[in-house]
Amino acid sequence: MKRVVITGAGGFVGGRLTAHYRDRWDITPLDHKTLELTDHEALHAALQAAAPQLVIHTAALSNTGYCESHPLESFEVNLQAPAVLAKECAALGAKLVFFSSDQVYNGTRKLGPLPEDAPLDPVNVYGRHKWEAEQRVLESCPEAVCLRASWMYDFDRPGLKSSTGFWGTLRRSLAGKMPLSMAVREYRGITWVQPVIEAMEQMATLPGGVYNMGAENPLNTYATALECLGLLGAELSMDTSRLKAGCGVDLGDTVGSFAACLRAFEEQQGGNVI
Ligand SMILES: NC(=O)c1ccc[n+]([C@@H]2O[C@H](COP(=O)([O-])OP(=O)(O)OC[C@H]3O[C@@H](n4cnc5c(N)ncnc54)[C@H](OP(=O)(O)O)[C@@H]3O)[C@@H](O)[C@H]2O)c1
Repeated sequence: MKRVVITGAGGFVGGRLTAHYRDRWDITPLDHKTLELTDHEALHAALQAAAPQLVIHTAALSNTGYCESHPLESFEVNLQAPAVLAKECAALGAKLVFFSSDQVYNGTRKLGPLPEDAPLDPVNVYGRHKWEAEQRVLESCPEAVCLRASWMYDFDRPGLKSSTGFWGTLRRSLAGKMPLSMAVREYRGITWVQPVIEAMEQMATLPGGVYNMGAENPLNTYATALECLGLLGAELSMDTSRLKAGCGVDLGDTVGSFAACLRAFEEQQGGNVI
């Protein structure tokens, strides 16, 4: 069986990877209790002992707000640790998969979909450290695969760290437990984590480099939430069946109604829409 080290094995992604691949890989799971990543000697010893063929580095300070207020800690964990880990992997000849983040694009003025080589100037500490870490990782370990993960979620699973994210927010809101507020100017490929976990074996075979990794999403977060609330069975508009039953008037749906308005406008203006 392939010898695999998973860092952050007590975390949201690392825990799910460890559980999913436990019968397929010979896994050394390194959670925070087992290994303090900023202890470089301990990191070296753990990797020497495990002699991995593959290292999946999910451990990080993943809370952007915390990183913003603790930049030195973020520097040590999110930048120095993966840089050291990459050197260890290069020395061992182990393939490294490093979890970066779509936060590297935060602050980019260019409109998407953004390619991996788009010019970057991350505005937050977390994004900056992830971006710099990618560069340090690839400098010493060119075969490393850096995955720029988008915002991920999953439903609760027994024994695994919870991170229900977008899914949880919509469900709580539907249950009437909280008001919903979603950004109109944010475009993110919000992603269910399960297909990411299942694709990891395949992604670990990628040639070294940086890869955007997440669901594609042309909608802003507000529009995405509306679509997903619809899937959850939310009825967001008025029920007009009484009007229809009462007098047969059917005013159609909003987009159809907009299209009809547009046709009428074009007729009046002679096709000059703008
Ligand atoms: N989840 C997302 O939506 C998302 C999106 C983009 C990128 N990412 C990236 O994907 C990776 C996995 O994310 P995740 O959601 O699984 O994060 P997570 O649940 O916060 O897991 C990260 C793990 O790293 C551990 N850790 C933190 N500092 C450490 C240290 N100094 N030494 C050893 N272990 C340490 C944490 O342990 P303790 O909690 O016990 O300290 C935690 O279990 C991270 O690199 C994250 O930045 C995640």
